[in-house]
Amino acid sequence: MKMKHTISLLAGLLVASPAALAQPEVPVNLPEFKEGQYVHSAPTVEDLMNDDSIHPELKKVILKGRDMFMNTQQFRGEYVFNDMNCKSCHMGEGRKNWSGPVWPAATTLPDFRGKNQHVNSLGERIAGCFSFSMNGKPPAYGSDDMLAMQAYHQWLAKGAPVYEKNIGGRGFSHLGNEKPELDYERGKQVYAENCAVCHGDNGQGQKKDGQVVFPPLWGDHSYNWGAGMTRIFTAASFIKNNMPLGQPGSLTDDEAWQVANYINSQERPQDPRYTGDVKETREKFLNFHKHTNYGTVVNGKLLGDHDNTGDKPFLKPDVLQSRTFE
Ligand code: HEC
Ligand code: HEC
Repeated sequence: MKMKHTISLLAGLLVASPAALAQPEVPVNLPEFKEGQYVHSAPTVEDLMNDDSIHPELKKVILKGRDMFMNTQQFRGEYVFNDMNCKSCHMGEGRKNWSGPVWPAATTLPDFRGKNQHVNSLGERIAGCFSFSMNGKPPAYGSDDMLAMQAYHQWLAKGAPVYEKNIGGRGFSHLGNEKPELDYERGKQVYAENCAVCHGDNGQGQKKDGQVVFPPLWGDHSYNWGAGMTRIFTAASFIKNNMPLGQPGSLTDDEAWQVANYINSQERPQDPRYTGDVKETREKFLNFHKHTNYGTVVNGKLLGDHDNTGDKPFLKPDVLQSRTFE
């Protein structure tokens, strides 16, 4: 393929110098904002340092939260049990449009969330990504670590209108959830040509000197079956607008869908909401799993039919308990 040479070159350069990836080889082609949408420009660390209105103690806490977000692996075995950092999916420090900018959680919550059918706080939203995307166990509510994470999110939202929901670039999605016909073999081919060079032939990712350079896309060290990225439309949109690294927008929509389906047709750690029966769990959370391949048969294998939780020694974190106001 035309891109192969460039990509392997890029992959080599990334190890040496991530900055080398700043110049994409193909035009960056991101979706347009719609009229009337609020488009945010999140502050940078430089803005933080120069902002005299923020108390030095608060600056420390915000920077601590940022450090946790960028290098979540420092909490491996405590809060994180896979190879992810928050920024593995929320690229550009969680500030980037179409790469799941995280600040909207600070201006739109508390709000009802379909995924768990109750009103969620910002802390609970952060806990959700720890439990599913990081296959982890979130810092306790009210702890210094949770406070630091919340402070980072809220500071990124500085200047954004509270409870404004019409936000340009929020999430990853613009491809919608109307999927085209999906073909495993076609996805496999897109993967081999555009992704394997960094993420590995078996989706295992790559490490250098014990540090994750390219995160895994499936297997024990990837996000678990309850993570938002297992929804094919979410992964397709993320991939379309962010991957291959340095070349966002270079895949066709169809290629993004096919490869999203391919990576999400591989095994990964069990959904923390597992009831002990994969089909039952799929039914129980069909609202979510109708967009995933969990509990369906792909290539003769029933996906998610196991009790492998990866490196995580437990299944249901208490934070996933339901809440009612009856
Ligand atoms: C494997 C990918 C992945 C990783 C890693 C990940 N997230 Fe997420 N995150 C998602 C997805 C998917 C969504 C939902 C986006 C959407 O609705 O399209 C999301 C949404 C969010 C939101 C809500 C944003 C909004 O628009 O309201 C917050 C906050 C968030 N994540 C924080 C975190 C934090 C903190 C971490 C690290 C502890 C993290 N995420 C790690 C995939 C990930
Ligand atoms: C040049 C190397 C490179 C190529 C090629 C590449 N990626 Fe990535 N990918 C990365 C890096 C690095 C990250 C993490 C981003 C970060 O930490 O800033 C990532 C993150 C991801 C993630 C979210 C985190 C995770 O591990 O689940 C997904 C999904 C993903 N890539 C899919 C793909 C797909 C599909 C392709 C092929 C279309 C692809 N990538 C091609 C380097 C690459």
